[in-house]
Amino acid sequence: MKIECNIDGKALSLSVNSNKPLSLILMEDVGNKTITSHCKGNACGNCIVLLNDEAALSCVIPAFRLKDATIKTFESYQKTRQYRDIERAYQATGNTPCPNCFASKTLIIESILQELTNNTRTKSFGSNNLPLRMEQTDEEKLDKKAIIQELSLNTCQCMDMSEMLQIVEIALTYRRRKRVRRN
Ligand code: FES
Ligand code: FES
Repeated sequence: MKIECNIDGKALSLSVNSNKPLSLILMEDVGNKTITSHCKGNACGNCIVLLNDEAALSCVIPAFRLKDATIKTFESYQKTRQYRDIERAYQATGNTPCPNCFASKTLIIESILQELTNNTRTKSFGSNNLPLRMEQTDEEKLDKKAIIQELSLNTCQCMDMSEMLQIVEIALTYRRRKRVRRN
C-alpha cells in the first residue's frame, strides 16, 4: 500500500506492505540509523519513536496506522532545542542511560514533558487511562504512577525508577523556564 506520512520532518510517500512494522520501515525503507531494535513484540522497549508527539513502540505499529502520521525518531530529535533540557537533566543527576537505551528513554521523557507542558493534549497513559497531570490546582502535581507507567515502555531495569523520575522533574524545570522566557 501507499502511505503518505512525515518522518523526521520529511514528507514521504512509502510503498510498503500494510502490516510491515514501523521499526522495519525505518531501518529498511528510510535508512534511519537510530532505530536498531526489532524484537517484534514489546519486550525491550528500544524501538521508541514519537508518533504524533507520543512515545510508541515502533516494532508493533503496522504501516497502515501511519497514514498522515508525523513520526519523529531520535535522529532528528537530537538536533532540537528540546533535547537540550533532557541532556542537561542527565548531566545534573549524573545518570545517563546506556547507549542501547539512550534514544528510547530520551524520547519517552520528551513525550512525558510534552504531556505535562501542553494543555491541549488529552492523551492518557496505560490500562488505567491515567492522565500524567492530575486535575490542576494552583500548583502543578505530577502523577508519578502514570509517569512510571510511561517510563516502563522501556523495560531496562538498570536505572532505578526514582532516578528516572528525578531526571523527568529536572528536565521539566528546564522546559518550564524556557517557556516562561518565551512568554
Ligand atoms: S524492538 Fe523490542 S519492543 Fe520494539
Ligand atoms: S540503561 Fe541500557 S540496559 Fe539499562
